[in-house]
Amino acid sequence: MDQIRIRGGLRLQGRLQISGAKNAALALMPAALLTDEPLTLRNLPRLADVDTCGHLLNQLGVSTHIEGARPDSFGRVLTLRAGRITSTTAPYDIVRRMRASILVLGPLLAREGLATVSRPGGCAIGNRPIDLHLKGLEALGATIELDRGYVRATASRGLSGARITFPTVSVGATENVLMAAVLAKGMTVIENAAREPEIVDLARCLVAMGARIDGIGTERLEVEGVSRLHGATYRVMPDRIETGSYACAAAITGGDVLLVGAERETMGATLQALAEAGVELLPEPEGLRVRRRNGLAGISVQTAPYPGFPTDMQAQVMALVTVAEGASILTETIFENRYMHVPELARMGADITVRGRSAFIRGVGRLTGAPVMATDLRASMSLVIAGLAAEGETLVRRVYHLDRGYERLEEKLAGVGADIERIAGDG
Ligand code: EPZ
Repeated sequence: MDQIRIRGGLRLQGRLQISGAKNAALALMPAALLTDEPLTLRNLPRLADVDTCGHLLNQLGVSTHIEGARPDSFGRVLTLRAGRITSTTAPYDIVRRMRASILVLGPLLAREGLATVSRPGGCAIGNRPIDLHLKGLEALGATIELDRGYVRATASRGLSGARITFPTVSVGATENVLMAAVLAKGMTVIENAAREPEIVDLARCLVAMGARIDGIGTERLEVEGVSRLHGATYRVMPDRIETGSYACAAAITGGDVLLVGAERETMGATLQALAEAGVELLPEPEGLRVRRRNGLAGISVQTAPYPGFPTDMQAQVMALVTVAEGASILTETIFENRYMHVPELARMGADITVRGRSAFIRGVGRLTGAPVMATDLRASMSLVIAGLAAEGETLVRRVYHLDRGYERLEEKLAGVGADIERIAGDG
């Protein structure tokens, strides 16, 4: 397993390209199952999770073609075509590698009336249940059986519209139910739907494919089922979490970086939290320019469903405030175990105490480089951010976590002046 070696203390300066959003791509790709015509996605990021999703779709009979992507280019163009579904089973060995595979359940069921998907199981940050996905699909008329670790969903007479109210907000459950509802007979109303920008991206793509969806971007989605969808070409939104992550990286080094392709509109609460910490993201024609006004200030923020502060930014902002003047409180309300980065940051000299759902961070003057272990995607980025500011060398092991969600990370950071390299070997 590869490692990443970082020598910290250098100010990041220059231009850094933001890629297409991982969490939009992982919902947009399964949408290809809803039609036998080609769906072309532009600005697709080059990520391990995207490749895993493509591999899974191939197993189901979806052909995938990547338009001549030069190795050094960003934003691949991928055309998917589910001309004929040859399998309705998403096997364990793929699903265990990427939980988002569960997002083939809704579209497969809508297209074929049958889907057998391995239960994704938990991961480092929590046990990640799928009960809300299943209840939503049952409301649309699916019969759900759980059998030896697999979910078997059938709808022999097709799906029928329903009123579905989610007791808690779930991004994946909203996506699965939305993709099933677009081909259901009649009207579906989804109350307490998740409002994440990635869901807006999915809904807009579905509309481009002929779906009828009202209330896009709100917690109440109204879907009028149609008999079929047609192909479309759709551009994946820029990755707001990657943007926030690199903003933290630039800010912790006191740098000044233009995040090319970043968009402000979907960055609400992240911008607010960074502004409180003393970091400004200024709109420019090509994207967002990030720099620090003065020193970093401590902040108090809690994660929440969109438009609240994203849980996917919690670890990265924690790294940033470890060297702020003053204390910070971060409260994680979405996942039960999303503080795996804390002991690793402590190895670098951070002063953090976790009590229940809250982490109390006292700013320290300086971090020191150390060998640290990546445990999950966003925790890994938190360690990279800390390493960029730490005195000396930081070795981040198990960087396969990073490769799931950050396209060409070391190349992007080296491009703005970081002393960073990937070392092949036994991380
Ligand atoms: C999506 O995961 C994202 N993944 C996550 O990003 C993100 O952290 C999360 O949304 C929250 O924003 C993708 O989009 C591929 P949820 P998802 O369903 O859909 C509970 C990253 O780092 N819940 O909104 O799995 C669940 O346990 C990843 O890019 C149920 O109880 O998240 C959690 O506490 C990590 N039952 C809460 O809801 C269910 O059926 C939110 O989960 C489903 C979820």
